[in-house]
Amino acid sequence: MCKICWTSLTAALLLIAFAGYKIMYPAAIAPSADGRMTIELTAGERDLVLTEMRDFLISVQTITEAVTTENMDMAVKAARKAGTTAQGAVPLSLVSKLPNEFKKLGFDTHQQFDQIGLDAEQLGDGSQTIKQLSIIMQNCISCHAGYKLVAVAEK
Ligand code: HEC
Repeated sequence: MCKICWTSLTAALLLIAFAGYKIMYPAAIAPSADGRMTIELTAGERDLVLTEMRDFLISVQTITEAVTTENMDMAVKAARKAGTTAQGAVPLSLVSKLPNEFKKLGFDTHQQFDQIGLDAEQLGDGSQTIKQLSIIMQNCISCHAGYKLVAVAEK
């Protein structure tokens, strides 16, 4: 192959490798003083994630209340609210800043809420619902142990 072809092929491969690296390891992630990884977002993006978090907490509270008052309809609704449909509201520009492990944990959490809703509807077994909720909350714990969000000016 000609020299110029080799050069452009090498340049193209390097570009692809770089793009892949940027997707796997977004730049806006760095270790922080408390041992967690810092994810840099704009103030608006951080607000959006934290709003979703407060909604998670509302669903957790509502599900425990629903089970203890034997109102499985309420549990189904609260679980669905935190399910995969809730995640549709997150823009791609924000998703691209999140580390893979974070995305996996987040997606798994939404999916597990969907499953709680489905099982609560079909089985109507409160103790099963609480058992599933305690498993979901391991995701809350491990993600909170690993990451924090800081707002930075838009680049
Ligand atoms: C994929 C990661 C992830 C998962 C899963 C997750 N969180 Fe969070 N959550 C975070 C991060 C990151 C923060 C911000 C922490 C910080 O900046 O110190 C946060 C913050 C919060 C806050 C504070 C909101 C505010 O306004 O400051 C609440 C409440 C919360 N999470 C609840 C939950 C609950 C309940 C669950 C489980 C059902 C959960 N989260 C699951 C990552 C996650």
